[in-house]
Amino acid sequence: MKNVSLLLLPGDGIGPEAVAELSRTIEWFGNHRDINFNITTDELGGAAYDKYGTPLADATLETAKQVDAIVMGSVGGPKWDDVERHLRPEAGLLTLRKELDLFANLRPATCRAALASASSLHEELVSGLDIMILRELTAGVYFGEPRGIETMPDGRRRALDTQVYYEEEIERLMRVGFELASKRNGKVHSVEKANVMESGVFWRQVATRVGKDYPDITLEHMYADNCAMQLVRQPKQFDVIATDNLFGDILSDCAAMLTGSLGMLPSASLGAEIDGKRAALYEPVHGSAPDIAGQGLANPLATILSFAMCLRFSFDLQTDADLLEQAVDHVLAKNIRTADIAAEGVKPVSTSEMGTAILEALDELHAQST
Ligand code: IPM
Ligand code: MG
Repeated sequence: MKNVSLLLLPGDGIGPEAVAELSRTIEWFGNHRDINFNITTDELGGAAYDKYGTPLADATLETAKQVDAIVMGSVGGPKWDDVERHLRPEAGLLTLRKELDLFANLRPATCRAALASASSLHEELVSGLDIMILRELTAGVYFGEPRGIETMPDGRRRALDTQVYYEEEIERLMRVGFELASKRNGKVHSVEKANVMESGVFWRQVATRVGKDYPDITLEHMYADNCAMQLVRQPKQFDVIATDNLFGDILSDCAAMLTGSLGMLPSASLGAEIDGKRAALYEPVHGSAPDIAGQGLANPLATILSFAMCLRFSFDLQTDADLLEQAVDHVLAKNIRTADIAAEGVKPVSTSEMGTAILEALDELHAQST
């Protein structure tokens, strides 16, 4: 029996509804499989601001550092629009990423067979799609200094952000990219704007140097704007896309839509391995969708699939991860869909009905396998 500790951070908007369904899924695994979860639940983002006066309380961060893995819902919403920037919900998430040094953000864009027709692109362009966006998550313009809005001596106002990358930050990200590609289709696209930005020129140099250590991997360089275009033109040309924090944010939203819905995509944010332990945060790629929050409309599958990534990457439970992903495919194949992925003429199910359908599929698949 494997004993693991998990921190659940439901967050804001649709986060709590999605994590509620995830909790039922986790409970199922605890009851039926060879694993025991020690679960702590706490607040993050706006919910934490409301409760503790800060989007990430010190005690929460302390727990986050102790546990084996963290699964979160989503943060943010108009309720906190007027809060100072360092107290905004997003600041809680950014601090968590930075404090745990979760530099490698894996955002797989896989088009599940049953959903190929739900994409806004032609089915033949996306069916079978399996790409991995690897986004640098703890540096770049998200964290660079100086930044701010200021008034100059001549009275003019201006705002600035700073894109800054240290060599080792690019290097460690690229290494993760090459290693991922070696277990996939052997191709890495390194994406930047070397035609305009110094940091892009540097990114390309470092990627090229590090790439020499991986002779079996094909490394290609691509400008970020071209990458956005290629993603919607011919997405299957990609295997791993390795890119910086800001480009990765944008390109992963774009890639997500290829797969049918932003409501389907999980992600893993991993730190460096230290003494056999690697900090890890799993979260859906989608945001908090405040417009539909609390109505039972949200798709919990991205959150549930994030937990499948957790089983795979943090606990090395490949069979369990496969089982959960199969359960998702099983449910989709039965045309059980939330509104964002519903087929025409089929009545969508609610968030909790989707959660129940996953449990039933798990029961069914588990009975077949034992
Ligand atoms: C994401 C989100 C976050 C980001 C926000 C909520 C800070 O868009 O994880 O993609 O920009 O990184
Ligand atoms: Mg984003």
